[in-house]
Amino acid sequence: MDTILIKGGKSLNGKIDIAGAKNACLALMPLTLLTEDKLTLTNAPKLSDINTFKQLLESLGAEIEFKKSGREIILSTPEIKTVRADYEIVRKMRASNLVLGPLLAREGHAIVSLPGGCAIGARPMDIHIDALEMLGAKIDLRDGYLFATAAKGLKGCAINLPFASVGATENLIMAASMAKGTTIITNAACEPEVGDMIECLISMGAIIEGKGTSKIIIEGVSQLYGAKHAVISDRIEMGTYMLAPIIAGGEVEIIGGNIKLLEAFSEKLISIGVTITNSLDGVIVKGPDDRLQAIDVKTEIYPGFPTDLQAQMMALLTTANGTSILHETIFENRFMHAPELIRMGAKIDISGGKAVVEGVSRLKGAPVMATDLRASVSMILAALAAEGETVVNRVYHLDRGYENVEEKLSNCGAIIERIIT
Ligand code: UD1
Repeated sequence: MDTILIKGGKSLNGKIDIAGAKNACLALMPLTLLTEDKLTLTNAPKLSDINTFKQLLESLGAEIEFKKSGREIILSTPEIKTVRADYEIVRKMRASNLVLGPLLAREGHAIVSLPGGCAIGARPMDIHIDALEMLGAKIDLRDGYLFATAAKGLKGCAINLPFASVGATENLIMAASMAKGTTIITNAACEPEVGDMIECLISMGAIIEGKGTSKIIIEGVSQLYGAKHAVISDRIEMGTYMLAPIIAGGEVEIIGGNIKLLEAFSEKLISIGVTITNSLDGVIVKGPDDRLQAIDVKTEIYPGFPTDLQAQMMALLTTANGTSILHETIFENRFMHAPELIRMGAKIDISGGKAVVEGVSRLKGAPVMATDLRASVSMILAALAAEGETVVNRVYHLDRGYENVEEKLSNCGAIIERIIT
């Protein structure tokens, strides 16, 4: 298993390019199941999660080609060969559940393994199931699989989601796009990645209103067509790298991201003394001259502070001046990075959904273990500023969602290398 070795203490100066958004790309790829025509996705990120999803879609009958060294994905599904999404693939990645809606819409049935728990929480699928049942599907759970059928086809209706789940909103939009009649989703997730899916579906011939809002109206159509779509940039990757010069010192230009998608996050940073300025190609983030002030952060659905940046923010706050409180409201168990940061000298107390972080003047390098995707990058950020050497183990978590971390950071002066074993 590869590890990443970081020698902390170097300030960062340079430019970092932001890739296409993993979570948008994972929501766009299953759209191939809704049409026989060719779907081309450009600005795709090169990540192991994308490869896993490719395997899953291929197992269902999709033909998928990576071009332009993985930046372009060409997908077509002339026919669905099986409607069974196997546990062996689904268990690797929760986003695999995004084949449920489109399989039901195209084939009238689907057999999709439940993803199971993951390090950050139980993550059930009740909201997906209830919403698809309102569209006319019948869904039973047997042997760990959801057996879904829509014998008479799916039929549009009004659905108010009990929680604005990103995945449930996406599954529902895909299913409703080819249902009979009109579907009105209220309390829908407003995340930009959902909007990106809607935009692509509209280019494929879907009739959808309300992109970016919590009320989405979908007029079902009988057929969808091919399209070419550029994946939006990764706001979480952008936020992660914005923190790097703040933690390590220096000045980094983040190229190609969209700061407008990170308002709650940027506001927090500005309020504790970080300088963020727009440049021609992105934003420039400058590390503070003095020690940062502690702050309270609460994760929320979009446009609130993203849960996917909570671990990285915790890494930053471990050395702030004073006591910070991080309140995690989206996932019940998303503090797995805290014990690892504590191994580096951080003072963190977890109780319920809250982490109380008492800033220390400096972290110390240590061997640590990545427990999930965002936790892994939080340790890398912490290590950039820590005294001495840090070895991050289990970096396959990192590779799921960040491409070329070592290269991007070392180009800015960090001492970081991957040890391939
Ligand atoms: C997506 C993102 C993930 C991000 C999350 C929240 C992808 C591939 N992943 O995950 O990076 O952290 O949004 O912004 O886009 N829930 C239920 N029942 C359900 C569905 C969800 O209880 O049927 C709960 C989950 O357990 C979790 C919360 O709702 O606690 C948020 O989940 P959801 O918004 O669905 O996240 P994902 O789509 O899984």
